[in-house]
Amino acid sequence: MTNLGVKFAGLDCSSPIWTASGTFGYGAEFDRFLDLRALGGIVTKGISPKPRAGNPLPRICETAAGMINSIGLENVGVDGFAQNKLPFLRKCGTNVVVNFFGETIDEYVACGAALDALDGVDALEMNVSCPNIKKGGVEFGTESNVLRDLVRACRAAIKKPLLIKLTPNCTDVVSISRAAIESGADGLSVVNTISAMAIDARRRRPRIATIFGGLSGPAIKPVALRMVFEVHRALPDVPISGIGGIQSGEDVVEFLLAGASTVQVGTQNFAEPSAAARIGEELKQFLSEEKIDDVNELIGGLKIK
Ligand code: FUM
Repeated sequence: MTNLGVKFAGLDCSSPIWTASGTFGYGAEFDRFLDLRALGGIVTKGISPKPRAGNPLPRICETAAGMINSIGLENVGVDGFAQNKLPFLRKCGTNVVVNFFGETIDEYVACGAALDALDGVDALEMNVSCPNIKKGGVEFGTESNVLRDLVRACRAAIKKPLLIKLTPNCTDVVSISRAAIESGADGLSVVNTISAMAIDARRRRPRIATIFGGLSGPAIKPVALRMVFEVHRALPDVPISGIGGIQSGEDVVEFLLAGASTVQVGTQNFAEPSAAARIGEELKQFLSEEKIDDVNELIGGLKIK
């Protein structure tokens, strides 16, 4: 029997495969496409204290090997989440990781504390990396000192496992990671989207209403792998959830070798809603072909000498 189970920041995961925030709704939308119990976890769309309408259209466009989004963190707010989304998630049979954010430190703390208190929420992922809003998001995730204050304040209000979702739009992902962990975070999600733009040459216009958006998909996989590896090499005991263009079982293995102990399937969910289940089957196939009986053997196993 091959073991696919991993431990991640206090969570028992039946598989290292999670689905990424903003690509999997609130879980229920995907229930008819795959068996959610086969996942190690679901990360919800980012939740803010109050509901948000998001950015004007168009806010998604396809690119070579990926897509750009500028959704603007549209979501149902804490109360809407607790009343209308959580009842399904409580029964979905996997870990429920709730992504959250605010526009100020006080909002982050209030939002995180309210979500932490909800039965059925297993862990929180703090979004300090959305490139698509003016306040909150990436402005908290690029300066170590700003991030330290935010994580410390949230840590004091949150008892459940707390992950920080990092941005690749920074100069030194290791010092940002260190700041997050030293301030009390239990793990890191590495990484969110890369700031980008696309132009419609005939119309001479940006393809996204806000001009800039976040690039995701296989186009960013090599960047994400490099960042996971850098963070793992500097902070080997810190749980990392790897994100960036995962499309196959072998992609999962690459992130595990680089040092992630879970991964999040994201952009592929838009093209193939059952992708995470297929990728899980491919991971099992890889392990069987390589005669590996425990997926944990792969974590951090990259040979560099
Ligand atoms: O615009 C958005 O909703 C994207 C969020 C994110 O990248 O975290």
